[in-house]
Amino acid sequence: MLEKIKKFFSKEIKEIGDLKNLEQLRVKYLGRKSELTQILRSLKNFSIEKRRKIGPQAQKLKKEIEIILTKKLKELKAKNSKLKVDIDITRPGEKIKLGHIHPLTKIEEEIRQIFLSMNFSVVEGPEVENEHYNFDALNIPPNHPARDMWDTFWLKTQTNTDYTQIDTEGLYKSVSSQYKSMLLRTHTSPVQIRYMETHNPPFQIIVPGRVFRYEAIDASHEINFYQLEGLIVGENVSLANFKSVIEEFFRKLFGNKIEFRFRPSYFPFVEPGLEVDIKLGKDWLEIMGAGMVHRKVFDAVRYNPNEVRGIAFGVGIDRLAMIKYNIPDIRLFYNGDLRFIKQF
Ligand code: DAH
Repeated sequence: MLEKIKKFFSKEIKEIGDLKNLEQLRVKYLGRKSELTQILRSLKNFSIEKRRKIGPQAQKLKKEIEIILTKKLKELKAKNSKLKVDIDITRPGEKIKLGHIHPLTKIEEEIRQIFLSMNFSVVEGPEVENEHYNFDALNIPPNHPARDMWDTFWLKTQTNTDYTQIDTEGLYKSVSSQYKSMLLRTHTSPVQIRYMETHNPPFQIIVPGRVFRYEAIDASHEINFYQLEGLIVGENVSLANFKSVIEEFFRKLFGNKIEFRFRPSYFPFVEPGLEVDIKLGKDWLEIMGAGMVHRKVFDAVRYNPNEVRGIAFGVGIDRLAMIKYNIPDIRLFYNGDLRFIKQF
């Protein structure tokens, strides 16, 4: 009897294709009037042996049928919901959220393009530097008061073990521990040294990069900011070249309504040293340090100071961005406020 029910059920369930028929099948096999229910109900009339035999079998079959029905129900529902996705093709699409280029990235890219158009190469260098490149080779020896111009983040390093470095001729040389101290570069000028050690003039490069200063933070000072270094070295390089390059650069960046002032100044790695001021509105702004590369710098990279001349300049990228986009506070670049970033 139970075998027969099972056999017929198995056959019929295969032919079910919709929910209505499935429900009918359920009633037929598990409903009050179904054969199986009748059997279960009438168990009490059977002898105890028969009851013990048929009872568990009938219960088991009921469970099996229930499981199969539930499975089928799920299948049919899934199929139905797939068929019934109603698409409203007139509904406006959701706006895709776009990222924003950071203003510093944006202006750096623009600066790169301007210098590339003037045939400069773009070079980069490490943010973790040693004392030699950041200071000594730039004519800022230990204990020189000029070091005070750059408040420095010094890094803890092992002491006493001298390290080996490849020198300009490709020979290994031991570097005395005086040069060993590591720091976060305070300017992009050390890349001048690194580049000259590995290249011969003539060349003209710019070096954009991140720099660090151990300073109190305020609206115009950050412990971390960006600079752009420039270096032109060749036989007949002069301040006249510098003037034309830099005026062209600022005109391309800020437009033609700009005035320039070149003032004498001091930086250990240039002689003479100067500062560039620009006037866009009514005020003069100090914008850039520059000068003719000091012969001691050429000595440090083993160029002959009597054969080559160079001009070098350094400018703060943050400051250029603040002027160009009229941003009052340098800290806005770094606090991650999306209301600020989204304006660019
Ligand atoms: N390195 C200087 C600084 O961080 C900026 C600078 C001044 C760079 C004069 C130069 C230069 O190349 O000639 O304040």
